[in-house]
Parts: sequence; structure tokens; C-alpha cells
Amino acid sequence: MPATPARVERQTEPAPKVRSYQHQHALPSYLNPEHLGPWGIYLKQVDRVTPYLGHLAKWVETLKHPKRALIVDIPIELDDGTVAHFEGYRVQHNLSRGPGKGGVRFHQDVTLSEVMALSAWMSVKNAAVNVPYGGAKGGIRIDPRQYSQNELEKVARRYTSEIGLIIGPTKDIPAPDVNTNEKVMAWMMDTYSMNVGATATGVVTGKPIELGGSLGRREATGRGVFTVGVEAAKLIGLPIEGARVAVQGFGNVGGIAGKLFAEAGAIVVAVQDHTGTVYSDSGLDVPALLEHVRESGGVGGFKQADSMAAQEFWGVNCDILIPAALEGQINKDNAHQIKAKMVIEGANGPTTPTADDILNDKGVLVLPDVIANAGGVTVSYFEWVQDFSSFFWTEDEINQRLVKIMKDAFNSVWHVAQQHKVTLRTATFIVACTRILQARELRGLYP
Ligand SMILES: NC(=O)c1ccc[n+]([C@@H]2O[C@H](COP(=O)([O-])OP(=O)(O)OC[C@H]3O[C@@H](n4cnc5c(N)ncnc54)[C@H](O)[C@@H]3O)[C@@H](O)[C@H]2O)c1
Repeated sequence: MPATPARVERQTEPAPKVRSYQHQHALPSYLNPEHLGPWGIYLKQVDRVTPYLGHLAKWVETLKHPKRALIVDIPIELDDGTVAHFEGYRVQHNLSRGPGKGGVRFHQDVTLSEVMALSAWMSVKNAAVNVPYGGAKGGIRIDPRQYSQNELEKVARRYTSEIGLIIGPTKDIPAPDVNTNEKVMAWMMDTYSMNVGATATGVVTGKPIELGGSLGRREATGRGVFTVGVEAAKLIGLPIEGARVAVQGFGNVGGIAGKLFAEAGAIVVAVQDHTGTVYSDSGLDVPALLEHVRESGGVGGFKQADSMAAQEFWGVNCDILIPAALEGQINKDNAHQIKAKMVIEGANGPTTPTADDILNDKGVLVLPDVIANAGGVTVSYFEWVQDFSSFFWTEDEINQRLVKIMKDAFNSVWHVAQQHKVTLRTATFIVACTRILQARELRGLYP
């Protein structure tokens, strides 16, 4: 029988080459290749580490494909009787090393690309400090400031029910992130427990102490930022006493980091958040500023300081700059202005790859998010362990263990950076991706 034209065409195609290209580099169809967002930043970071992965590079595509992404609809009845729908996500990037772990964010601009990138950075971070977790992250597209506590509780509970399919103390353990806190974690824990018919404290971390939360968790991320900052400052000969510090984002992470640096004798000269930028050349009164934020919701309007235009913040004369708000804040437009000797990334993904290169060329040391803000997940790990054994540690024990893990992890990364002559970000990715892909290889592919 003569071959149909279609068959002839198929037979003459250079099939294996095309197949291999398509199978190894396909971007998920659900993202726009022209606007990859934070996921695009993460992919570039993976490309930078690949040459250092040796034979494990065979598995690198694992890192470029989130294992599981769940998108949920969250309908709630508002206080005025109308019904509103919100979009929610939970992404489990990689579970080779253990259950998923990562926060839940409430923000009007949350996207799938962002949650994917945040989940991947959690995989890297958890492996970098060697806690036995994979990476996950969640988010809801909502501006929490527009809704009452009653409405937010309904959103948190319905979201938890919807993602209940894939979370659990041995599957995936959420935690607080931007605009979520202990109260949201209590609602999530209660909802999950009601659904499974037993109190399951280990399903979330960052809970109130009364519900199985851990002492020191609230301060842990900021304490970790401070700890690695002090370690790095020693290595580059920068005294903390008298160092000038600027902080963007004065919530959980930035607020605590700023407070600890001030207590150690540093001078916090500028703070920016979503309500404004405040500046004092001789140093802000950090406890007073924290009190002002607690009362008014932001740094804007703080009387004991000058206010400053938002863009000027990046050019402030300082030694240490701590971005602790959102992604992409340090970018090609402002990286040139930065005068700091050291940037400590309290936020996740605050520096774009282009800005990373600009800072590197200027000799600014960047302590990357994937190590610098790992203190939170480290104490979350302690919380989860304490919940499983129902035996709780003192705050001193927790802080001592946290500081040891952060110092050891940071010093290993520093060593790898020296060895390969790479940035601390690439060095952290080398350490972490090696651990993730070793686990991948040892487990093998199922089935
Ligand atoms: N909470 C944790 O344990 C933890 C752990 C690791 C990393 N992080 C990361 O740290 C960052 C901050 O998280 P958080 O828990 O402190 O959140 P938070 O909600 O407590 O604080 C967020 C801060 O960012 C500020 N902000 C928001 N939009 C801004 C804008 N456009 N310009 C300037 N400032 C803005 C807010 O005003 C607020 O001060 C996030 O990137 C988060 O993913 C948090």
C-alpha cells in the first residue's frame, strides 16, 4: 500500500532531535513565555548553577518543573450579603527530600508564576539549611486591607478546605508569609483538624504558642537575617557597631531584623514600606518606629523622622541594605544607585538577575534569600518536630539551635563560593540543588 503524504512527512522528520528538545526545555503551557514573571528569574538562577552540578545535571529539569500546582476558587459571603470569589494557589515544587514546606501569602497581585517561583526558592532554601523538607508555597489574590476579620477568616478556612487534598503534617505544611500571621495559621489548623476529625497541630507552623506554636518562631526570620549579616560582616571586616542600615519592608522580617541590628549598635537610617519612606541621618528610634507601625499600620507619618521620596531610598548612604518586602525590588533601574557594602535579602526574590550582576560588578556582597531568610523555616521545622513529640523547648534552646544552623549553613556556602569563585547565590544553589538532585537520583523515577 502506498504511504499517505502524512506518513511520508512524519518518516522524514528528524524525530529524535526535535523530541529531545521539546521534552527537555518545554515551558509549562499555563505561563506566558513572553512574561514569565518571578518563575523566569528562578529559571535563570537554575541555569547559572547547572555547570556546577556534575553528573547530577542529568536531573536538572526536575528543578524546572513544579511537581504539583493546585488552583482553587474561594467563594465567600461578604459582610454585606454579596458573594465574592478569590483565586487561590498551592504549588509543591519538589518533594524529593520530604514533605512540602512554605508560606501562604495574601496579596492582590499574587500570580501562579510568583507562587511557583516562591515554592522553588523554598526547595532551595530548605535544602540549603538541610531541613528535611521539599519546597511549596501558597497564595490568595486578595488585598486583606479591604476585608473584615470575619471575611478573612472565611477566606482562610475555605482556602484550607480546598487545598486540604494535598496538605497535611506529612504531606505539605503551610506557614505565614506576607499579610498572614499566627491568627490565620490558627484558622487553617482548626479547619484542617475539623475536616480530618482530629486536632492536627503539625499541619501548619507559625501558630500561636497556645496551639502548639514555637517560642521564637515570630522573630526567627529576622533573627536569621541578623545572624548571617553579622557572620558576613566579620568576613568582610565591617563592624556592626556604627554600621548604617536601610530596611525596605518593616513587617515581621524587616521589623525584627532592624530591631536586632539597632540593639547590636547599628544605626538604622532609613525604612521604607507601602505607606512611605522615613529617614534620619543620625539613626531612627527603632522601638518607637515599631510602635508607630503597630498603631498606624505603616511607617508613613512617623513624626520623629524626615520623609523621603520612594526612589531616593535606594541611593541612601548606608553599609547594609535589607530588602524585606516583595520580589523584584532591586532591579536594573535602581541597582546602580545602591551604596551599601552588603545586601541581606530578607524578602524572597528581591533582586533580579540583572541587578545581581550590577551589584556584583560594583563589589556589593549579596547574601541571598535562599540562605539569609531561612531562619523562619528553620524554627518552623523545630515547631513541627515539637508538635509531633508534644514536647516543647525553651526559647533559649530554640535560638541557640537556630543560630548554630544559620552560621554553619552560611559558612558552608561561603566556602563553596570561594572554592568555585561564584556569588553566594550560585554557591547556595550549588549546595542546595546538589542535595535535592541527589535525593531525586537515589529515589529514582516512579514507576
Ligand atoms: N514571615 C516569614 O517568616 C518569612 C520567611 C522568609 C521570607 N519571608 C519573606 O519576607 C518578605 C516579607 O515578609 P513578612 O512576613 O515580613 O511580611 P509582612 O506582611 O509582615 O511585611 C511586609 C512588609 O512589606 C511592606 N511592603 C509591601 N509592599 C511594599 C511596597 N510596594 N514597597 C515597600 N514596602 C512594601 C509592607 O508595608 C510590610 O512592611 C516576603 O518576601 C516574604 O516572602 C518571610
